[in-house]
Amino acid sequence: MRRFLLLSIFASCTSFADSVLPGSENLSAKAQLGQKLFFDANLSEPAGQACASCHNPDFAFTDADKSQPTSKGANPEFHGNRNAPTAMYSAHSPSFHFDRKERQYLGGQFFDGRAATLEDQAKGPFLNPIEMGNSNAEAVVKKVKVANYASQFDSVYGNGALENSEQAYDYIANAIAEFERSPVFNRFSSKYDFYLFGKATFTVQERRGLAVFEGKGNCASCHPNRPIKSTPPLFTDFSYDNIGVPKNAESSFYTMPTKFNPDGENFVDFGLGEQLKIFKDNGKFKVPTLRNVALTSPYTHNGYFTKLQNVIAFYNNRKTTRHCVDSLTNETESLAKKCWAIPEVAQNVNFDEMGNLKLSQRDIDDLVAFLETLTDGYGEKSPWISFNSPEFKN
Ligand code: HEC
Ligand code: HEC
Repeated sequence: MRRFLLLSIFASCTSFADSVLPGSENLSAKAQLGQKLFFDANLSEPAGQACASCHNPDFAFTDADKSQPTSKGANPEFHGNRNAPTAMYSAHSPSFHFDRKERQYLGGQFFDGRAATLEDQAKGPFLNPIEMGNSNAEAVVKKVKVANYASQFDSVYGNGALENSEQAYDYIANAIAEFERSPVFNRFSSKYDFYLFGKATFTVQERRGLAVFEGKGNCASCHPNRPIKSTPPLFTDFSYDNIGVPKNAESSFYTMPTKFNPDGENFVDFGLGEQLKIFKDNGKFKVPTLRNVALTSPYTHNGYFTKLQNVIAFYNNRKTTRHCVDSLTNETESLAKKCWAIPEVAQNVNFDEMGNLKLSQRDIDDLVAFLETLTDGYGEKSPWISFNSPEFKN
């Protein structure tokens, strides 16, 4: 019965028609509603795009279309400036704040933290003109009102839940956020999780990769991999950094209409600095989780890198390798010419913790092997017992 119900949910997003999402057993009523919203391709203008179009569960909730660095919108002519990150584990990001002890900004949603919480985040894409394209919240609510799951809003949020548009839009965002807080997005079931519990054995190469990750590679300083008490590692400290990623010549954003990109080819993404209007934070982007990273290419905020090997090669010798002559040299040409294009934002590039790691080719291959152990689904149930509960509480 349950299986049948789930199948009907996916009817609007046909590629999921014959699959049941892992972790979706025992979802709360709110999260089930959130799931329907997340997969509903009728909620865009024009119709045809759901959250799931850019956050596909088969690719750890990133865009299945790997042929381009940034996703297309409901209007397929439109492209955003950023690569769709995984929506998995984002429920663990604390609300955006300045941490006095660490003296830096932490948490929030999006690469620049501009949405404080998951609820705030969920309200963005529906109204983004180059994503789902609705002109206002009311337009979204109107579409939800005629969906086959509309009546469930009354049972979950009380009678007349969809009557007042502003209130209804809050409920829509809350239901989606509840879904994102469910085990579907927080699986903690990778080989590495099982390894931490002594329930999986690492190959020699995976073990070496883990050692490089924590040692010579210095990856763990921003992508922490050890559990803190009973909290499983998230592979991000939710801080912001400029690792010096070049501009991505392949990005269709540069040729977007001036209405959306007045700077054309000269467009620069200043990340956190732009968001806060603080110069010293220019070029910083939120450290992404590395869970499921083997499934989430392309990589970094503008999708510059298509392979994990290349991200690591970049970390390895960015500081010691010459700059390419052309600032728009792409990943492939860079590797062939043994040069890296200049950083998109030259200020604040972190040269202390990366850029001259002296990794051998074997170290790089070992790191990739370790990163491949972070893909969920090694075992069906997470070994982190408390995280098997239907809704985790932050
Ligand atoms: C057109 C593609 C597209 C659609 C549709 C879309 N997203 Fe995204 N999503 C993105 C991109 C691109 C980003 C990063 C944007 C940024 O940082 O400015 C993102 C970021 C996010 C994040 C933040 C992740 C993090 O680590 O900061 C979450 C959560 C998310 N999306 C959920 C959703 C939900 C929920 C919907 C539907 C209401 C949705 N997305 C619709 C492309 C999309
Ligand atoms: C100083 C902090 C820091 C260190 C150290 C660090 N990273 Fe990162 N990492 C980041 C930030 C910030 C980003 C996002 C940059 C962007 O989007 O421009 C990132 C992005 C990535 C990505 C792309 C993920 C995605 O989904 O797009 C991978 C893979 C990655 N790092 C792996 C590593 C590995 C492997 C190491 C060690 C060799 C490492 N990182 C060391 C901060 C760090």
